[in-house]
Amino acid sequence: MADMNDLVSLCKRRAIIFPSSEIYGGINSCWDYGPLGAELKRNIKEAWWQTIVQRRDDVVGVDTSIIMHPEVWRASGHVENFTDPLVDCKSCKQRFRADHLSTERCPECGGELTPPRQFNLMFKTYIGPVEEKAAEVYLRPETAQGIFVDFKIVQAASRLRVPFGIAQIGKSFRNEVSPGNFIFRSREFEQMELEFFVDLKHDDEWFEYWVEERFRWYLDLGIRPEKLRKRAHRPDELAHYAKACYDIEYEFSFGWQEIEGIAHRGQYDLSQHVKHSGKDLSYYDDLTGEHYLPIVIESSAGVDRALLTFLADAYTEEEERVVLRLHPRLAPVKVAVFPLLKKSDLVEKARAIEKELRRHLVVAYDEAGSIGRRYRRQDEVGTPYCVTVDYQTLEDQTVTVRDRDTMAQELISIDRLLPYLKEKLDW
Ligand code: GAP
Repeated sequence: MADMNDLVSLCKRRAIIFPSSEIYGGINSCWDYGPLGAELKRNIKEAWWQTIVQRRDDVVGVDTSIIMHPEVWRASGHVENFTDPLVDCKSCKQRFRADHLSTERCPECGGELTPPRQFNLMFKTYIGPVEEKAAEVYLRPETAQGIFVDFKIVQAASRLRVPFGIAQIGKSFRNEVSPGNFIFRSREFEQMELEFFVDLKHDDEWFEYWVEERFRWYLDLGIRPEKLRKRAHRPDELAHYAKACYDIEYEFSFGWQEIEGIAHRGQYDLSQHVKHSGKDLSYYDDLTGEHYLPIVIESSAGVDRALLTFLADAYTEEEERVVLRLHPRLAPVKVAVFPLLKKSDLVEKARAIEKELRRHLVVAYDEAGSIGRRYRRQDEVGTPYCVTVDYQTLEDQTVTVRDRDTMAQELISIDRLLPYLKEKLDW
């Protein structure tokens, strides 16, 4: 099992993910994604967007604003309910989540604790130059509300008929009391959310359908089945809007943890927005002539959590190497090109091959150090194939292609290289 410390140090060493503002000492649980991390993240979001939006005819995508009208958050229930109970230690002044404590006295110093107070997790800021109550707004704590408030305009403009979905990917912000476990829980993160609108009779079927679909998505992208499970929420765990919820959980080194939630949100959100905005958000069914508020089935995944899951699952320590066995679709770099030696004729040929491949795939070029070292450098960032140019290449136009997982090598003629790689990468 991937130890988090090993993963964190690999991410730091290869600048995949590292603390934000590090030259100033960093800022607690805010993270930057370097070149390889940014590619990996894009690949995850693209895989989700393709599966959920582009390859379906019943889901459309949107990109809504992070700062919304503050009434949105009163309607959604977040102003009132999106809170954690906090206690302070009267002696050492440390603050804890009351629901995470197993003792009645401070776990750090044994001091007396204050009674719990509710702490709202939404970040507040001001819109415009005047910092007054009237100008107070929130950074969204979920992307979902952007979809609910736009439900009617998107449905009408896209002439969507129930059942249909609206999806989006974007940043969310929560002033978490106890962030941690690397990028697992942070204060600024990205979500991939789908709100799927169904009629009043088929909600349970669609709920089951989306639980299965979403579970399969992780498996299709290579997550080991024994590390993934579904867990139904107990009634006392349900969020204020949910009638039922399944978590998809992954077994990290710090235990089984939620990576995505699939929730039956009922008519809660749309009816709240009808109440607070005074607008009619009902859907008109032209077959039955009925007006109604559809039921919402939601799939809500964290991009950063999915990324941590793919990394943790891919991380493998072997006797002589560390290898990230990432699914080729997610791998930040698809192929690396090496000249065997730093000799001008080999370099020139390798550069020409790199240039040609770069038109189709994300490519790395490396001429530093022994071939063995260069393989190791690509293995630990998950590059599925390495192509080596040697003197035989100059004679017979073949290159050596080496497979990350099996380490097997194959001679391939240059004119077949791109189709060969595309087939192997399922591109
Ligand atoms: N719209 C529903 C919603 O936001 P949630 O269970 O609060 O539900 C959904 O969050 C997903 O968002 C989680 O399963 C997780 O993947 C991700 N997420 C939530 N809080 C996070 C945080 N502080 N850091 C990273 N990811 C987070």
